[in-house]
Order: sequence, then C-alpha cells, then structure tokens
Amino acid sequence: MTAANKQQIDDWNGAVGERWLTYNDWLDRRTEAYGRAALAAAAAQPGETVLDIGCGAGATAFELARAVGAGGSVVGVDVSEPLLGRARERAAALGLAVEFRLADASRPLFEPARFDLLFSRFGVMFFDDPVAAFAELRKTLKPGGRLAFACWQAPERNDWYRWPLRAIAAEIDLPSVDPRAPGPFALAEPERIEQVLGAAGFGAIELSAFQAPFYLGEGEDPDAAAADAYDQVLRVGPVARLLAAQDEAVRARAEARLRGALRELARERGIAMMGATWTVTARAV
Ligand SMILES: C[S@@+](CC[C@H](N)C(=O)[O-])C[C@H]1O[C@@H](n2cnc3c(N)ncnc32)[C@H](O)[C@@H]1O
Repeated sequence: MTAANKQQIDDWNGAVGERWLTYNDWLDRRTEAYGRAALAAAAAQPGETVLDIGCGAGATAFELARAVGAGGSVVGVDVSEPLLGRARERAAALGLAVEFRLADASRPLFEPARFDLLFSRFGVMFFDDPVAAFAELRKTLKPGGRLAFACWQAPERNDWYRWPLRAIAAEIDLPSVDPRAPGPFALAEPERIEQVLGAAGFGAIELSAFQAPFYLGEGEDPDAAAADAYDQVLRVGPVARLLAAQDEAVRARAEARLRGALRELARERGIAMMGATWTVTARAV
C-alpha cells in the first residue's frame, strides 16, 4: 500500500481495528438505522454489480448481496485485515458470495465502468485526498451509475459523540481537531460534500438529513444501562483514546465524571442519544 492514507491504514490494522472487531456486533446494532437509510436510497436491484467502500466486517455488503441476488455481485473493499477476516467468516456462515478485497479504495483497483452502484456506510470519510479518491472511485462506475453513502453530520448534532467528551472536559483539555481531517466528521459540512463530489465528477448530488436515536447503553434498568454505556465509552471512540493518554489520577477523575454523567442520562432500559447523518446520493456524469 502507498503513503496515501497511511495513518488510517495503520489505525484500522492496529488498535482501532482491533477495538472495532471486539465491539463489532455492538457497533453494527448502533449504526444499523443510518445504514438502512442509505441502503434504501441506494436501492440496489437484482443483477447489479456493487462496491461497498470501507465495508469493515461486512454487514452492509451482506444486505447488498441479498438485494442483487445470485445474478448480481458485490465486492467489499477495506484496508483493515482484521475486519475483512471477520467479514469473510460471516459471509461463509451466511452462505453469501461476497468478494472481500484488502485494498485502499482510493487507489485504481478495478477496471473502468465495472459497477452499477458504489455504496458506503461510514467508510468514505477517511481519505487524505477526498477529491482524488472519489474521482478514482467514479471511474469504476458505469455511465450514469449511482453513488450512495451515509456519513455523520457535525458533532453538535451527534450527542452520542459529544456528550461523553463533554463529561470529561472538566478534567482533560480536549484537543482541537481539524473538522475536515480524515475521520468520522470529515464530510459533515453539506457544502464540502457537494464540492468534493462535484470536483470528482459526480452530478445529481443530493443530501438528505437523517436522524435516529443512538443507544449508547442498554440494560434492564438505568443502572445497568449506565454501566453498559460506561463500559463502551471507555473502550471505543474518542474518550477511550484520550483517557488512555492520561496519568492515573487524571484518568480516575475523568472516569468518575463520565460515570456520573452517564448515570444522570440513563432512563429506563437505556441511554438514547441523538445521532444525525447525511444520506448522500449522486450519479457518475
Ligand atoms: C467507521 S468504519 C465503517 C465500517 C463499515 N462500513 C460499517 O459500517 O460497519 C470505516 C471503515 O473504513 C475503512 N477504511 C478507511 N480508510 C479506507 C480506505 N482508504 N480504503 C478502504 N477502506 C478504508 C476502515 O478500515 C473501516 O473498516
């Protein structure tokens, strides 16, 4: 693989990929609704050829395979070896013929005009050079072929991300993050999505705002829900990364803040937080 996207390739084959693997079922349940909205917009048809970009452990590739049926085909591409390993195991267990390819999706990988549809659930926000990446991907679409993906709206609209960080902010200086840097919120601005896709040769670009609750914790009662959320927030996501870098005393204080905040948020059986995405569709022009 190349120097492009090197940080992401390292991350998704290292600690980030391992955490995603461990919590894959949990993450699949949390992100299912947003993926469904994008799958509905993609409207994969029997017989179509489809690429699932940044397919991870394969959940949406399997949905696409069911939609295109035996007459169609689905390829999942991802840079993460551990996640693709899980995807292949799941495909075998489900009896679904999906091809999973370990590669950087922004590189020339496929012959031109191979696919009817390019799809992604949260797998297209990690490119160092999004215009170049989407332009490369566009070449793999048949003329008039479709692009459909889900990406997160801004952190201010995603409480599941913002609230845990807010809880620890009294103890830890939160680093300032370039909102356009590769990461979950790189395509949060609608104008940027339009600019990137337009410059990459897509037309008919449409964004549809989607919202669904993101269940940060679940349990039999509020205490159990808060404990579940605490457990997860400490393991996956930005809080986990920040806390790992602190000394023991600071970490203990921040963890206590987090525990208190989550318990306050917990209602009967769960902590439901706002999650907001863009469902984006476009066509190769
Ligand atoms: C947030 S995860 C989403 C995974 C999956 N689509 C899902 O919804 O469960 C982002 C995925 O994009 C992959 N990824 C990041 N950069 C990539 C690139 N340049 N080419 C291919 N995959 C990439 C990561 O390895 C990771 O599996």
